[in-house]
Amino acid sequence: MSRRLLLLPGDGIGIEIVDEARKLLNWLVAAGLADLVLEEGLIGGSAYDATGTPLPEATVERARVVDAVLLGAVGGPKWEGLDYAVRPERGLLGIRKALDLYCNLRPATVFPQLADASTLKPEVVSGIDIMVVRELSSGIYFGTPKGVETLADGRRRGFNTLVYTTDEIERVAHSAFQVARQRQRRVCSVDKANVLEATELWRQVVTEVRNRDYPDVALSHMYVDNAAMQLIRNPRQFDVIVTTNMFGDILSDEASMLTGSIGMLASASLGKAYALYEPIHGSAPDIAGKGVANPLATILSVAMMFRYTLGSPEVAARIEAAVSRVLDSGLRTADIMQPGMTQVGTVAMGDAVVQAMGEG
Ligand code: IPM
Ligand code: MG
Repeated sequence: MSRRLLLLPGDGIGIEIVDEARKLLNWLVAAGLADLVLEEGLIGGSAYDATGTPLPEATVERARVVDAVLLGAVGGPKWEGLDYAVRPERGLLGIRKALDLYCNLRPATVFPQLADASTLKPEVVSGIDIMVVRELSSGIYFGTPKGVETLADGRRRGFNTLVYTTDEIERVAHSAFQVARQRQRRVCSVDKANVLEATELWRQVVTEVRNRDYPDVALSHMYVDNAAMQLIRNPRQFDVIVTTNMFGDILSDEASMLTGSIGMLASASLGKAYALYEPIHGSAPDIAGKGVANPLATILSVAMMFRYTLGSPEVAARIEAAVSRVLDSGLRTADIMQPGMTQVGTVAMGDAVVQAMGEG
């Protein structure tokens, strides 16, 4: 039976990179390797322009009936002046919340061909294999009260609330420990328990879950400031990192730089009932429309979709192998360009991956 995918290109380079993912998906269908029906929807600034909201109800409804969602990126300077409630980013946060996507898997691995492309020394980054498990549907991103108010004396006061309940911590902790069982069985939980009460609770609950259900997995704890330092000092010490929404946002961008470029990092946002796949990078307004964006993070997100939702690990592995062979052949987008390699644009990189699929 056909599986249904909803493509949400969004804004900026989101449109260009999802074009390359669509090309790959169509190739997989034509080659008989997947039985997919592709649908399209609106999210972000482009949805706001078309409908007055960054997350049309139709998008949520369709996301709930398909097997998986593939999202490009949202946001851009055009919409920065808008009220927070209708900013493009609210579309992304809104769909994460609406689908209850609490577990965001952000793998940071270095393709050996790109060990030189990182700003860190190759001997520091080569061989890293980190899975950041970011809580995605709660924390300071969603806590209330929040807003900007004007005080009696005319000063303005901005405020957000960091909030976690035990069940929200437990379920993402379970995800992290289960992921760790497929890997090196080591989880590092990152918090700021020395200052923030909500993350002191985080530390306690993660420890309880481990002691009760995962005695075979090693658990350590790290404050987020130290974790930020350790990630560039000695990234190979990490296997699975589990952390809050905002710390995960920050640390996963940092981890991406170990891999050479944020343009390489895929992600899966999973809930009990729904799944959404997206590159971890943003809409990159500075290069949008120029045809130079790296489509590989989105293509690797498609691989994750085959592995986690579509139940075809062999297709996932084939996509990853195709990406690896394209890198072997010396093709590079601007963000991962290295001396002696051949610089190509978004479309040529997508074409090369499809061609490599055909050969593999
Ligand atoms: C990410 C992005 C988003 C986030 C933005 C675009 C709202 O930075 O997916 O990491 O902060 O979660
Ligand atoms: Mg981010």
